[in-house]
Amino acid sequence: MANVDFSNRDSFGSKFGVIAAAAGSAVGLGNIWRFPYVAGESGGGAFVLIYLAFIFIIGVPVMLSEFVIGRKAQRNTFGAFKILAPGKPWFIIGIMGLVAAFFILAFYSTIAGWTLEYIVKAVSNGFKGQDTTIIFESFKTSTFKPLMWQFIFMFLTGWIVFSGVKNGIEKYTKVLMPLLFFLILLMCIRSLTLDGAAKGLEFLFKPDFSKITWGVVLEALGQAAFSLSIGMGALITYGSYIQKDNNLSKTALQVSLADTLIALLAGVMIFPAVFALGMDPQAGPGLVFQVLPELFMKMPAGYIFSIIFFILLAVAALTSTVSLLEVVVAFASEELKISRNKATIIGAIAIWLVGVIATLSFSDLSHVKLFDLTIFDILDYVSANILLPVGAMAIVIFLGWFFGKKLIFDELSNEGTLKMKFFGLFIFIIKFIAPIAILLVFLNSIGIIKF
Ligand code: TRP
Repeated sequence: MANVDFSNRDSFGSKFGVIAAAAGSAVGLGNIWRFPYVAGESGGGAFVLIYLAFIFIIGVPVMLSEFVIGRKAQRNTFGAFKILAPGKPWFIIGIMGLVAAFFILAFYSTIAGWTLEYIVKAVSNGFKGQDTTIIFESFKTSTFKPLMWQFIFMFLTGWIVFSGVKNGIEKYTKVLMPLLFFLILLMCIRSLTLDGAAKGLEFLFKPDFSKITWGVVLEALGQAAFSLSIGMGALITYGSYIQKDNNLSKTALQVSLADTLIALLAGVMIFPAVFALGMDPQAGPGLVFQVLPELFMKMPAGYIFSIIFFILLAVAALTSTVSLLEVVVAFASEELKISRNKATIIGAIAIWLVGVIATLSFSDLSHVKLFDLTIFDILDYVSANILLPVGAMAIVIFLGWFFGKKLIFDELSNEGTLKMKFFGLFIFIIKFIAPIAILLVFLNSIGIIKF
């Protein structure tokens, strides 16, 4: 450790930059690709309701906890626990986070690669007069193209991380996130004005409680964690780049609200169209790739919009993959004493290798299954539904029970300069509500206890 210089760590440049970067991490394929298909498979409205409850009861407090840990420690996820709790095993949270970064980035880059293929398809007017389900099936089951796009996507991710925090991550997200928001709004309007759109809204917002099982509750918890980028230290890492005068509570709330809004809008963009076009809400990971191209074909100027949309989707994915790679790079450069550039290259290649297996599980490795899940499904399920919730639980337990209330107060109030209206509530949630809720969901969904 001794010869690593921490005094000139990179950091975000402005308040808006912090929000853009953190929202850039949170808003991604999780909102636009994963949320609709998981909600579709898990029964719609009831799932959405539980998801929302988890975002606000657990998600926001965990996000804030990660910011506090990161900014206080000024370190990567692993190093943060080493510094804040020397000699104690809390750094295991950091190790779990690194594993989660590998798992998530591996399957995430598969889908991110798909978005690049869809940009090309959109530009070449490849959806016109075609059956979008057939187009999608034949693309994802081919070997070469998905692998090529995944490689290109990992390369782009590495490139931005290589450029640094301020001049890479912050610079791009500031412009691109607002544009994405605008485009989703437009698509919602088109989807909602299709004949038969109301059924989709009903599916999305009318809770049918008979659909709720503990498995669905766990899915909702996993999706909430995944969408907010919490539970593995990505936001500890980003937190370590936040300036000392930033109001962390406000930032966490704004980022969570933006993320939730975009997920809900993605639902409003997808489900009315799914029902109006007679498609299957349970189509799984292919849902948006089959529905959206159809929707574009039915829109005035759909050709142009389809190009812009898939570019923005790729960008949203990119600002998320960047935050995942940053976890690994910050760890490797600060703890293993290798240069940041070297860490980026080695990290990106290592993750890409796992990613190849995830991509091939739609084609050549599609027969490899465990519990009826492909390798892709397993990486997705284990990271979102197990690693992230367990990580989130460990993080709040660490902060709530071992960190010290005074230190939390100082960090949250910027040494007493901010008014803290909800401090008591926050402490109560991270000490009791969040860990107990996560534990109950787990024990029930595994079947150890039964409510
Ligand atoms: N939140 C991102 C999304 O919704 C994905 C993501 C980025 C993520 N960084 C993360 C998920 C860290 C969990 C942890 O697309």
